[in-house]
Amino acid sequence: MKLTIIGSGYVGLTTGACFAEVGHDVMCVDNDAKKIETLLRGEIPIYEPGLADLVTQNVAAGRLSFTTSTEKGVDHGDVVFIAVPTPPNPDGSVDLKFIEKVAREIAPCIKSYKVVVDKSTVPVKTGEKVAETIQRYAPDAEFDVVSNPEFLREGSAVADLMKPDRIVFGSNSDRASALMKKVYEPFVAPLLVTDINSAELIKHAANSFLALKISYINAISQICEASNADVELVAEGIGMDSRIGRSFLNAGLGYGGSCFPKDIAAFIAISDQLGVPFDLLKEVQKINRRQLDRFIDRIREKLWVLGEKKIAVWGLTFKPNTDDLRCSVAVELVERLVAEGAEITAYDPKGMGRIGDLAIGSKIRLASSPEDAAKGAEALVIATEWPEFAHVDFRAVRDSMLAPMMFDGRNLLDPDTMRKHGFDYHGIGRGI
Ligand code: UDX
Repeated sequence: MKLTIIGSGYVGLTTGACFAEVGHDVMCVDNDAKKIETLLRGEIPIYEPGLADLVTQNVAAGRLSFTTSTEKGVDHGDVVFIAVPTPPNPDGSVDLKFIEKVAREIAPCIKSYKVVVDKSTVPVKTGEKVAETIQRYAPDAEFDVVSNPEFLREGSAVADLMKPDRIVFGSNSDRASALMKKVYEPFVAPLLVTDINSAELIKHAANSFLALKISYINAISQICEASNADVELVAEGIGMDSRIGRSFLNAGLGYGGSCFPKDIAAFIAISDQLGVPFDLLKEVQKINRRQLDRFIDRIREKLWVLGEKKIAVWGLTFKPNTDDLRCSVAVELVERLVAEGAEITAYDPKGMGRIGDLAIGSKIRLASSPEDAAKGAEALVIATEWPEFAHVDFRAVRDSMLAPMMFDGRNLLDPDTMRKHGFDYHGIGRGI
């Protein structure tokens, strides 16, 4: 099929490449001429495992092309996906100006029947607005609007797209639904077709539920600390119930990244607007913030004064296997430690290239390895659970430190083993 993706960012580019991989003829559009030039040169502006190869191979096979022209793009595709950013407003609601702009821009380009698919994460009822807008600017245009949320995780986006748990789209038109089914025919996954509003809600409800699971186990971790129990065992015990499941029950510094904090705030905002305040989610946010506060309190309690303390931080990205620092709890932790006068030496396998873009980048030292970061430190903090941090020579690390204090914000390591290596180990929710 001929498909167009408007917005060649993280979601748009990955989705476009995967559609091309299964045989569709895909044109990716972006108004950022520099980005398109980069892509045309065969370079990928983001780090995502497997994506570079997928793009190169499909460009070479003639199934994936790039342009800055919306007109060309809309002309090309029978189905036009919108995958532009939906940034937050200061009050947590979603700023839909890019979606509105695309709707306005594509309207006059529609010369034959098109399915316009919203892939960006948007609040419920956005599809209705997109349809109204296109209609207003092109009253004779033949089109249907569909909502098709994405569920891809950074770091495994290609795999998530190629082998999804489920495909969801919301459509109020049989003609559009038939075309959407053809788009997804090559993918082997359960398909759920709903109305547009329900599909939009599914995305917010899914991410909020996962955040709820994280905050739930983090709340339990606080109770574990107060009662000298081990949250890892509690998570294992409750996770064995198939109705609950073990995933997303990892206690730690809380959720971050470009999706969860934004989506939870957006769901709260739209629920308020609809007159059904979602207080449960407000509590989820509060618990998430409290995790970092408590962790810093713990570090302060043990080190007494943070000023002039040399602290090694392992991990800067919001989670492992990505170079993304957006809304990273690890970055916020570093900022807060620096604000209290601590001298930070940080190491991250993929995130250090981007730290220079942030104000904090100039206020910390970057190390060449986890071991290098720990040299001479008075405390070691694990802020992101990169698997390789579990495979260093801990005895050598301890010997190179000024004092063997360890704060494991992600419960990556085994407390007993670390204590055997001579560390004064502190995890999350693992007794005091
Ligand atoms: C998420 C959703 O998983 C994905 O379906 C959606 O489309 C986009 O948002 P992503 O932002 O890539 O994906 O991250 P995810 O792997 O879900 O983790 C989100 C955050 O939660 C990370 O900061 C992670 O460290 C944290 N987390 C996750 C926990 O603290 N504990 C857990 O048990 C799981």
